[in-house]
Amino acid sequence: MILVTGGAGFIGANFVLNWLSSVSAEGVINLDKLTYAGNLANLQSLKNDSRHTFVHGDIGDKKLVNKLLAEHRPRAIINFAAESHVDRSIHGPTEFIQTNIVGTFNLLECAREYWGGLEHVEKDRFRFHHVSTDEVYGSLSLSDPAFKETKPYEPNSPYSASKAASDHLVRAWFHTYKLPVVTTNCSNNYGPYHFPEKLIPLVILNALAGKSLPVYGDGQQIRDWLYVGDHCSAISVVLDKGKLGETYNIGGWNEKTNLDVVNIICAILDELRPRSDGKPYSKQITFVADRPGHDLRYAIDARKIQKELGWRPAETFDTGIRKTVRWYLDNPDWVQGVVTGSYRDWLQKQYLI
Ligand code: NAD
Ligand code: TYD
Repeated sequence: MILVTGGAGFIGANFVLNWLSSVSAEGVINLDKLTYAGNLANLQSLKNDSRHTFVHGDIGDKKLVNKLLAEHRPRAIINFAAESHVDRSIHGPTEFIQTNIVGTFNLLECAREYWGGLEHVEKDRFRFHHVSTDEVYGSLSLSDPAFKETKPYEPNSPYSASKAASDHLVRAWFHTYKLPVVTTNCSNNYGPYHFPEKLIPLVILNALAGKSLPVYGDGQQIRDWLYVGDHCSAISVVLDKGKLGETYNIGGWNEKTNLDVVNIICAILDELRPRSDGKPYSKQITFVADRPGHDLRYAIDARKIQKELGWRPAETFDTGIRKTVRWYLDNPDWVQGVVTGSYRDWLQKQYLI
């Protein structure tokens, strides 16, 4: 049994689906608060799978987390739960501090107590895997080398600062209490079930809806894009073989400017779902006000995980982005639920939230 937190969100849901796609996989307890970013439709295909147990709750709820650990005795906790959107963190940082810092602190304390009570093999094999981001390292100039694990943290947004704080807590729980932790710092993900507040799904859906494609500033900021399935496979490898107390950078070797990303998506849509007037989707690109404190460039040096654990991404940006655009075209029901907000209707009924 493993305990996954935030498994109804974009990456967490992809992870749970990938994990359970293997017939021999251990069961998953999925603890998620179902914020606006949590969507049980992501996990629809598991509704008859007894290996998946969904629990609606907060990683900051000590009583609940202790109960889950005592009842299910997981051999690992994989912490995806977070507030994850930079723009939202600029408008309202409170939830970011609460979930990303205080929530992670609570999870660490519960894990410490639980692990402290384990013995022998169970104690030796237990892992606390913290899922983090490359944004903790700060921003690069165009000529700087890519982020290595040794790069000092220089977070610039409330989001990245809160993730950096959580990474430091995880590190300290290893050094002080010897809690068996591993941390992964990953670059920007994209793929199925991505909530359309983030650049790639927003552009795909706005393009199809005939809306403008908002590019912040001059669109020359650079991100290092990784297909979400590759992130999931990297997490499994680190969980399996990662050295305790270590951090591993995960990246796709795919640096692209935002404007290039938007143009590539437009070109794929021109081919797969041409506009009725025959004009290119790139006509919908609109340059809008820049994000305050916008980081210029992120780039991951992913040589450590490759050299030490043998992991490399399977997808290039070309293959991954094509799969992603196709997924959004092939899943209109999921898209509709998210765009209209109807995915939250039954949550209201079910959970009164
Ligand atoms: P997401 O916003 O899509 O999903 C987050 C999930 O966490 C949601 O299901 C939400 O309901 C849940 N959640 C939020 N607060 C919670 C709480 N207090 N208790 C329990 N559940 C809670 O995020 P994502 O893009 O899937 O990111 C997952 C993790 O990966 C985050 O920790 C993020 O920092 C990290 N990460 C994301 C990216 C990326 O490109 N999206 C890249 C690197 C790292
Ligand atoms: P985003 O997907 O929000 O991820 P992050 O901020 O974590 O990197 O944004 C990716 C890049 O795209 C970032 O440089 C901001 C930019 N961006 C736009 O230009 N327009 C948009 O509408 C959004 C959401 C992002």
